[in-house]
Amino acid sequence: MSASDDQTLIAAAEQAMARAYAKYSGFQVGAAVVTARGGLFVGCNVENISYPLGMCAERNAIAAAVAAEGAAMRLVRIAVRAESQGVPQPCTPCGACRQVILEFGSDAEVLYRGADLTLMRIAARELLPHAFTFDPPARG
Ligand code: THU
Repeated sequence: MSASDDQTLIAAAEQAMARAYAKYSGFQVGAAVVTARGGLFVGCNVENISYPLGMCAERNAIAAAVAAEGAAMRLVRIAVRAESQGVPQPCTPCGACRQVILEFGSDAEVLYRGADLTLMRIAARELLPHAFTFDPPARG
C-alpha cells in the first residue's frame, strides 16, 4: 500500500488525532498529507489556555511537510479525521485551513467526513471558491 492510498492516509490521520492536545474543546482532530515527493506527514490540533493560540491539525500537518521538504513542498492529498469523547465527528477544514491548503496545492484532494460522516472528496480549489490571492511584487 502506498502512502497515498485512502486507508493509509486516513489511518495516519486517525493516529495523529489520538495524540491531539484538545483539552479545552474536547474536539480531537488529526490530519495527514501526501506531498508531490511522496512524503507522508501528520498533524493534530494543539490548543492553548489562551484560546486563540490553538492551532488546527491541518495547518500543523502542512507545517511539518514544509519543515521536512522545504519551500517547494506541494500538497497532493490531505485527509482529516475528528472525534469528540471517542465518537467520530464530521470535520471539514476550517476557512483558515482552506486558504493554507490552497497555498500549497490548488488541485490537492481533500478527504474529510461530511455531515452524515460519509467520506467527502473534493479539490482544494472547490473547497475555497473565490479565495484571496494577489501577485506578490518581485523580491531581491
Ligand atoms: N480544528 C481543527 O484542528 N481543524 C479544523 O479544520 C477545524 C477545527 C480544531 C481547532 C480546535 O482545537 C478544535 O478543533 C475545535 O474547534
